[in-house]
Amino acid sequence: MTTTTLPPGPTAPRPVQFVYALTHAQRGMPRMRDRYGDAFTVNLPIFGRAVVISDPAQIRRVFTAGPEVADNLDRNLGRVLGPGSLFALRGEEHHRRRKLLVPPFHGRRLGAYERIVEEETVHEMASWPPGRAFPVLPSTMRITLNVILRAVFGSAGAEFAELRALLPRLVTLGSRLAVLPVPAVDLGRWSPWGRFRAMRREYDAVVDRLIAKAGRDLDGRDDILAMMLQSRYDDGSPMSRGDIADQLLTLLAAGHETTATTLAWAVERLRRHPDVLRALVEEADSGGSALREATILEVQRTRPVIDMVGRQVKVDGFRLGRWTLPKGCAILVSIALIHDDESLFANPRAFDPTRFVGVRPDPYEWIPFGGGTRRCLGAAFAQMEMNVVLRTMLRDVTLVPTDEPGERWHSRGIANAPAAGGLAVIRGRASAEVPPAAATTTGTLS
Ligand code: HEM
Repeated sequence: MTTTTLPPGPTAPRPVQFVYALTHAQRGMPRMRDRYGDAFTVNLPIFGRAVVISDPAQIRRVFTAGPEVADNLDRNLGRVLGPGSLFALRGEEHHRRRKLLVPPFHGRRLGAYERIVEEETVHEMASWPPGRAFPVLPSTMRITLNVILRAVFGSAGAEFAELRALLPRLVTLGSRLAVLPVPAVDLGRWSPWGRFRAMRREYDAVVDRLIAKAGRDLDGRDDILAMMLQSRYDDGSPMSRGDIADQLLTLLAAGHETTATTLAWAVERLRRHPDVLRALVEEADSGGSALREATILEVQRTRPVIDMVGRQVKVDGFRLGRWTLPKGCAILVSIALIHDDESLFANPRAFDPTRFVGVRPDPYEWIPFGGGTRRCLGAAFAQMEMNVVLRTMLRDVTLVPTDEPGERWHSRGIANAPAAGGLAVIRGRASAEVPPAAATTTGTLS
């Protein structure tokens, strides 16, 4: 048996650490890093003993370790998305299933979704009230939900309306439940888990109908459901119906709230950085995209909507820097802490998109999509989507700057959103007051 050495950390009882983590999520981690260093051990109800890391070399070690050494957390999103979800699968099974899902999210396919994203953005913006403050998050949620529904199901008739009504409730509740322990006893159908299971039954019934419809006529369809129904593993076997339903829910849930929340943060940041906003409008008008792409990277660095990703150690004596971790130990890679590290990002609290113009971020330092074999499957899709939504917004409306303080973080369960939902004030471009020019486009403090 190998001797284990864990980094230091708070010694308060598990429930106290849990309450602290829930109530002080944003301030607590930086405080612990300041006190214990860039690796520290916490003790939490869902994960048990967990080592929080934020050093690039250690992150590289974790992300490049094979699944036989460090795989997905035992308690993962599969608890709410189902056993067939990519989040629930491990090792070879995860690899096989992920291979089937990669094609629609890469390369040439992404261009085909741009038109859908632009249409949905234009449609949603038509309801924005000029000159009056409104939270943009519900709007970006509708855009990203409609986009992912259309990408996944093509055009689906009556079932679309049902899913549009059901999914926001299902995803909101699932997102909250995902970070809470499952009660040992069944608390009945009015309990949160009971309500979640009832919604899941509703979802399964709709998806069963969609699968049956698609199965009758796959000719000419290029949506993700059609592709799943036709895909085969290396041994020629198809995906089971239950697995398809779990996988679709995974894409619908993972592919909608995170992107919408990042877009709401983009609006929140840009209204407070008129110099960047003005440069983006000019760039969009002249058909460019380099600053917009850099802005998305900077929004994701400074406002990562998911603040950590986890792995579980599968071998005894996993070496991580000067520590040796026991089998079963959870590792939490802190996205928020590494993005805030001034040795990696000069003046890290400043919102400065120019730091990423023409720069490809390091995959172990800029990590809003996680990393390694479990890196976000939809990363390229999300970046295309955020790019097209912002481009369309900058083209069609003027976002009115504000000197109000930045919005605070609000945890929605999985995703961290701007507390007021990303308040927007807009004017139509024709009657627009262009934001006043500022001296530079860099270095604005948040
Ligand atoms: C800004 C938007 C998004 C963010 C910040 C985000 C973030 C993440 C993160 C942090 C992970 C965990 C990675 C890890 O453990 O290393 C993840 C996994 C995943 N994401 Fe995303 N995501 C976004 C958008 C999307 C979209 C649009 C889709 C699908 C259309 C998607 C589908 C998935 C899937 C399927 C996984 C599981 C991958 C696996 O376990 O192999 N995500 N995402």
